[in-house]
Amino acid sequence: MTRTKIFARAGLAALAALLLVSAAGAEDDPRFKESARLYDTYCAQCHGVNRNGKGVNTVGLSVQPKDHTDTAGMSSIPREEMAGAIRNGGASVNKSALMPPWSSVFSDRQIDQMVDYLIHVCKCSKSE
Ligand code: HEC
Repeated sequence: MTRTKIFARAGLAALAALLLVSAAGAEDDPRFKESARLYDTYCAQCHGVNRNGKGVNTVGLSVQPKDHTDTAGMSSIPREEMAGAIRNGGASVNKSALMPPWSSVFSDRQIDQMVDYLIHVCKCSKSE
């Protein structure tokens, strides 16, 4: 293979990787940018880069993380319960303790924005 071809291939691979990354947590709406970034950092390991509950850290979890793209499933969770689960963990709303508490990481404003973001992700627009 010629040197140019090798470089061309490397370039394509880099481009493909870039496209993959931007497709996963892509969020163009400025209202949700910060939450999407926080989600990628703290939630995606369990809830998945595609927000579908299939994160890399779910192998062996006895209770699987919520699929945040599930419109029907997410619509049935009241806003206060979502905020409660995020703030004080799953156990605080009678769900699995495998969902960790985030009150020492997020401010109230960030939790509130995260709930807005989740309602956007699940397209649960009636409660938006
Ligand atoms: C260590 C894995 C893990 C991480 C990290 C995690 N979650 Fe969860 N999450 C879970 C599990 C497991 C459940 C399912 C709990 C159940 O159904 O009993 C859950 C459920 C939820 C629910 C639904 C709660 C309900 O009332 O049904 C919300 C909302 C949620 N997570 C948001 C988040 C957000 C936002 C983050 C990041 C800040 C996050 N989770 C990070 C594991 C995780």
